Order: sequence, then C-alpha cells, then structure tokens
Amino acid sequence: MFPVYFIGAGPGDPGMLTLDGARALEDSATVYAPEPYGETFAKLLQGKQILIPFDYSYEELIARVRSESEQAPVSFLVPGDLTFYSPFQPFIDALGERVKVLPGVGIANAAAARLGKTLDLPGVCNRAIIASPRTLGDGPDAPTLEELAAPGVTLLIYMNNIPLPELVAVLRRGYGKNVPMALLHRIGLPGEEIVLADLDTMAERVGDRDFFNLGQNNPRPSLTLVIVGETLTAEPGGDWWNWRWEHVWKHRA
Ligand SMILES: C[S@@+](CC[C@H](N)C(=O)[O-])C[C@H]1O[C@@H](n2cnc3c(N)ncnc32)[C@H](O)[C@@H]1O
Repeated sequence: MFPVYFIGAGPGDPGMLTLDGARALEDSATVYAPEPYGETFAKLLQGKQILIPFDYSYEELIARVRSESEQAPVSFLVPGDLTFYSPFQPFIDALGERVKVLPGVGIANAAAARLGKTLDLPGVCNRAIIASPRTLGDGPDAPTLEELAAPGVTLLIYMNNIPLPELVAVLRRGYGKNVPMALLHRIGLPGEEIVLADLDTMAERVGDRDFFNLGQNNPRPSLTLVIVGETLTAEPGGDWWNWRWEHVWKHRA
C-alpha cells in the first residue's frame, strides 16, 4: 500500500508549490488534478496518469484510488490547500492511514502577498472572517454577509455568486460606511487581474467584466477572491512598530 497525498497546490502557479509537495508529486504515478493544474503544472506532471477528480462519483473515485495506491503513490492537487473550502474530506476520512495531507499556499496567503498587506492589523482591523455566500445557508438563522460585515472586520469572500452591485450594497449596509475593497482574479494564473477600489467605486471600476462567471451557464465558482476592510489601505508607520517594540518585543534584562 502506497501513500495517497493531498497536496496543497497553491493558487495555480507551480512556483507556489512547497518543496514537500513537489517531492510527493514527483513520486506519484497517478495525479488527480482539477483545472487549471493540468495545464499550469504540465512540466511537473510529465509521464504521469493525469485525471480530473470531478469526472467521477464518490464510489468510482474511491475504488480507483484504493486500487491505484496498491501499485504506486497517488496524489490529489488541492486548490490552495485543505484549510478552507476543500471538497476532498470524504476521501481523506475513508482512505485512513495511507493519507498524507501536505499544507500549501492558501488563496488568502497568495492574495495578501499580491496586495502587500497583512489582513489584520491591531488598531485598524481586529478580526478576519472567511465566508462564502454559497455556504452561509439560507435558513432563518443563517448569518448574512451584511451581518458579518462590520467595522474592524476584514472579510474574505470565496466563491461569490452575488452580482457585484448587489454585493457592494449589502457590504455597505454592514460596514455602515465606505471601506476599501479588492477583487483578486486568477492569482498566479494567466489573466491574473487585481482591482483595488472601495465599496462605492468598485462596481463602476469593474464595469461589465464578469469576474464571478455570473453571466454564464456554468455553476462552477470563478477564480476570484473578494477582500474587504480597512487594512487594505492602512499604512501603520513607524509609531505602530515602536509601540510594539517598546511594550512587547524589546529585550528585557
Ligand atoms: C473551493 S475554493 C478553494 C479555496 C482553497 N482550498 C484555499 O484554501 O485557498 C475556490 C475559491 O477560492 C478562490 N480561488 C481559488 N483559486 C483562485 C485563484 N487562483 N485566484 C483567485 N481566487 C481563487 C475563489 O474564490 C474560488 O471561488
């Protein structure tokens, strides 16, 4: 019995694959690679059997992986990594001891790096909330995005399916004021685009570009992350550092 790796593959650029991930991938004979990894990881996948996990039912896929991992290591490329919104939990649980999960660069990590911004900043934002309108639920007790959006919150919205003008209106009500907003489209992939604006101007800045695939008959979420919050434009400066240096970090004899 060989390992089945669930490799945090990052946003799509092989430069963001970890060294552990690259080693596991190299060892594997079969790789389950969702789009667009078949293309962007093509060099690393040469000579391997490449399959798309979403082509199979649960029963078909688990049977395949059990049988393939009798012969050689198998890998799943997990978009971003396992931490948030990963669909592979049923396989990880069912495959038991042969599973090895390797962490990777989550989309939030790559987004923060592209923006050059830390997503919580004491004194500006004191909490970050990860949410998706697709998974908040629709029962009477389900929280709404409007309730999650509040001063002091950095909101990271995955898999958005709300039209942009409606989304900014909801967020504007939640924050109670205009705050900075970023759309990060196809990070680490061809066609990468980052729009930094604010709730009041984002819809106009984006115009008729369909960053969320809402005009198409395709239920799959688009590769766009939304980040909202004051930390996006905050510039804390030397006093911010010095306060912490004085009160927290400075060596005390
Ligand atoms: C199923 S979630 C995957 C999240 C991933 N497991 C993580 O931890 O980062 C898919 C959503 O992640 C975001 N996403 C995935 N890849 C992206 C990329 N390359 N650029 C921007 N957003 C991306 C989009 O919001 C997309 O709808």
